[in-house]
Amino acid sequence: MDQNELKKLVGEKSVEWIKDNMTVGLGTGSTVYYMVEALGRRIKDEGLHITGVTTSNRTAKQAQALGIPLKSVDEVEKIDLTIDGADEISADFQGIKGGGAALLFEKIVATNSDKVIWIVDESKLSQQLGSFPLPVEVIPYGSQKLFAKFEAKGLNPSFRKNDQGGLLLTDSDNYIIDLHLGSIDHPHELAEYLIHQVGVVEHGLFLDMVNTVIVGRQNGPEVLEAR
Ligand code: A5P
Repeated sequence: MDQNELKKLVGEKSVEWIKDNMTVGLGTGSTVYYMVEALGRRIKDEGLHITGVTTSNRTAKQAQALGIPLKSVDEVEKIDLTIDGADEISADFQGIKGGGAALLFEKIVATNSDKVIWIVDESKLSQQLGSFPLPVEVIPYGSQKLFAKFEAKGLNPSFRKNDQGGLLLTDSDNYIIDLHLGSIDHPHELAEYLIHQVGVVEHGLFLDMVNTVIVGRQNGPEVLEAR
């Protein structure tokens, strides 16, 4: 199986965790794409009653087209379960997310969920975080100053570009600065530092947040319980 087939495998497997009448957080990305398609099929075939809370305009568009009823995070009392992708997961179940620039809504939805499942192909697992560049969402005003500060601290920043070569804008009209770190020895310390820099809206370290990881392996999906 190639990487895409592994993504499809875990995307389709993950909808087994969705039960009737649940409010479900719908993540973002190419793996989540398959989960949302499979959920749409279950709603159609089984008459499942679900309320979806999306994490990006992209996922909202897909879910709407499939007839999945949607509400915003502020319109629901709580989210029973969120299923999302991840860019890197360490051996102690910490994660980097935001490769698709949706980290802000993803973190808001995840932190308001009773249970969080990440679905990944096996290439996303690593011993220690840092090989995937860490996304930091910043407001445009003062972002050059923040960039210079990150550079001076040796965090190897780069502004995320869009397909036209301009600066990428998130769904909240912010910029993304990616930090090319190689390895992150102390993720909690780094998270504390980043969130306290004025102008930083959120960062892609998702720490102590996941309950279950479904990994796409060549011999089938593997379910890992984080805590
Ligand atoms: C979106 O901002 C990300 O957090 C995605 O969840 C992550 O990039 C995984 O995406 P893929 O499933 O496309 O690899």
